[in-house]
Amino acid sequence: MIKLDKVSKKFGTGVFALSEINLNVDKQEFVFLVGPTGSGKTTIFRLITRELLPTEGVIIVNDWNIGKLPKQKIPHLRKKVGVVFQDLKLLLDRTIFENIALPLEIVGKKEEEIKRKVEEVLTQVGLIEHKDKFPIQLSGGEMQRAAIARALVLSPEILLADEPTGNLDIETSWEIVKILSDINAKGTTIIMATHNTDIVSKLSKRVVKLEKGRIVKDEKKKSEEKKEQESAERPKETK
Ligand SMILES: Nc1ncnc2c1ncn2[C@@H]1O[C@H](COP(=O)(O)OP(=O)(O)OP(=O)(O)O)[C@@H](O)[C@H]1O
Ligand SMILES: [Mg+2]
Repeated sequence: MIKLDKVSKKFGTGVFALSEINLNVDKQEFVFLVGPTGSGKTTIFRLITRELLPTEGVIIVNDWNIGKLPKQKIPHLRKKVGVVFQDLKLLLDRTIFENIALPLEIVGKKEEEIKRKVEEVLTQVGLIEHKDKFPIQLSGGEMQRAAIARALVLSPEILLADEPTGNLDIETSWEIVKILSDINAKGTTIIMATHNTDIVSKLSKRVVKLEKGRIVKDEKKKSEEKKEQESAERPKETK
């Protein structure tokens, strides 16, 4: 569960990246975060992972108050929240296998377990046959999948995907979204920031729209809306 309560973020430059954001994301939800460039999408992700602290407001992830989280607990938070960064952040001098193994090495997993888990996530994203290549030897779509695999390797409860279809053709973009939908179906909460209006309009998922640091629209999944409407319309039971 993620909850942002009246969250504002002002940068030292004086820029208000976010103003009084209220947002609740339930377990296992899939949310598209949309809005023009500079509207605050990446800033929301950086707040959720405690890369940034809010200027005002409260951020809760699971039961943790992120603003008050002691420093030594930050690694726990980052295990629970996987991030596919907008600029991928793959290490160019390491193979795909080594890139994805890194988070597991950092948390001190044994070699055998690392191999098993890395191969499992690489298979999940369809990259197993590329495991010994370096990032530069992959296509854009393959690199994106590698970044997703790295975000998944610690089995996070929440996955934040920042523009994972940027610079990809439409077919490859759909493949990436399919991978994310499958991950979501297995129980991971997903927030995906995107400019891809085609994908957002074709999938009936919840859409949260930002403009100049404010939420200007929060549309629930169509199916949920329907359910709510139906229960409101249903005549009250009489005794
Ligand atoms: N470290 C920073 N210092 C100062 N201003 C920043 C910083 N990071 C972001 N901003 C500003 O905050 C605003 C929101 O930026 P953010 O990166 O969250 O936008 P975004 O919605 O992710 O955009 P895009 O779609 O281009 O990725 C922008 O005006 C940006 O210039
Ligand atoms: Mg961004």
